[in-house]
Amino acid sequence: MRVNLTDRELFARNDFWGVLAWLRDNDPVYWHAEPDGPGFWVISRYDDIVRSYLDHESFSSRYGMRLGSNPAAVSAVAQRMLIVSDPPSHTQLKRVLAKAFSTAELAHLEQLVRTVVHTVLADAVASAELDFLDAAKRIPNYVVCMLMDIPRSDWEWLGDITVEAFEGADDQARSTAHGEIFLYFTELVAERRKNPGEDFVSRIAREHKATDFPGQCHPLSDEEIAVNCNGVLAGANETTRYSIAGGLLALIENPEQWAALRNAGAPAVPRAVDEVLRWTVPAVHALRTALRPVRIGGVRIAVGDRVTLWNASANRDESVFADAGRFLVHRFPNRHVTFGAGRHLCLGARLARLELAAFLEELIECGVDAELLDAPRFTASNFTWGLRSLPVRLVGPTPRHRRRSRQSDDRRRSRQSDG
Ligand code: HEM
Repeated sequence: MRVNLTDRELFARNDFWGVLAWLRDNDPVYWHAEPDGPGFWVISRYDDIVRSYLDHESFSSRYGMRLGSNPAAVSAVAQRMLIVSDPPSHTQLKRVLAKAFSTAELAHLEQLVRTVVHTVLADAVASAELDFLDAAKRIPNYVVCMLMDIPRSDWEWLGDITVEAFEGADDQARSTAHGEIFLYFTELVAERRKNPGEDFVSRIAREHKATDFPGQCHPLSDEEIAVNCNGVLAGANETTRYSIAGGLLALIENPEQWAALRNAGAPAVPRAVDEVLRWTVPAVHALRTALRPVRIGGVRIAVGDRVTLWNASANRDESVFADAGRFLVHRFPNRHVTFGAGRHLCLGARLARLELAAFLEELIECGVDAELLDAPRFTASNFTWGLRSLPVRLVGPTPRHRRRSRQSDDRRRSRQSDG
């Protein structure tokens, strides 16, 4: 088997699943050479991946958490941006940032998420024929912009520049876009320090984090706030849209599963959300650097070696998931690693689940059907991966659903006027 997981075209063709399956069966701890780099280990079995995620003593994130990152850019934010930090900085930062994503906080967000999803889907149904990615990308972007109380006039620009920062044509375009986002948040932090509110940015600007010195705390610096706002924006926008659009494609391609979900209704949604997450796995891999000699699956890993953990492979591991290659909306248990595991477990996992649940419930409630107008296209990336384009026709809703949807609009309006 020819293994080249740095070949972006393999991902654009949605052709990498067979390579990962072969690795799981034949070479689960595989040394991957690179023409222009030192090479890296590819870990493809579920148990090895989870064990490595949990082994914080042996594996570091501060030297980068994905293949292809720019070492200078990583070192500029390491130990200040959550995702490329190790303890104690990581623990101190996460304690502060996680407060905004707790279950209690998200209860306040639920209505807002539902309103965004309802508006976006209603617009999509009204236009009937569309590239569904245009709708899917609005959901996480609008939610995260509301969370940060970003002026409405900046939402689209911020959404587009995040895409540019990850998918821009070359290094120069990507780093210019990152620079613009950083500048935007630096100005926003200064503004919120002057006029604080109850939004995410104002709140973390008020927070204190522990220092390495016992008993001492200090406020987050403007730079820490700006880089972590950037991290939250990117974490939200570069992933959730792939699960929303990928979930719709999975339902179109598995009509019996769509019927099963519709028949079971809202109570079936939480399991369907997890299956959409397992299936679409928008963060395909994560990278760690070995801090000490360690063994994975009996293979010796040396200090300084880069180790890649393939979430996409773990989620299809037959030793953990029966019928792993089938999309089954009622699947249970479903211990996928779409959000990673261990101390870097996704900060926005609850929010992403909330958005997906609102999306599936709205899809059931509005009663539309979808059909493909053209072949879906996928991103040419081995890191955040998913649908680049999903041309669909939305048909319906049936008169029965139109009546139900009007009733639920009335209920929503009366809840909003009560609140
Ligand atoms: C389907 C949607 C999402 C997926 C698949 C996803 C995936 C992931 C994964 C795999 C990690 C761990 C990376 C590692 O171990 O190195 C992670 C971390 C993170 N995610 Fe998400 N994410 C999603 C949604 C979100 C959302 C909605 C937000 C913010 C609102 C977010 C913010 C973050 C942040 C800040 C981290 C760093 C956490 C840490 O290092 O402790 N993500 N995400």
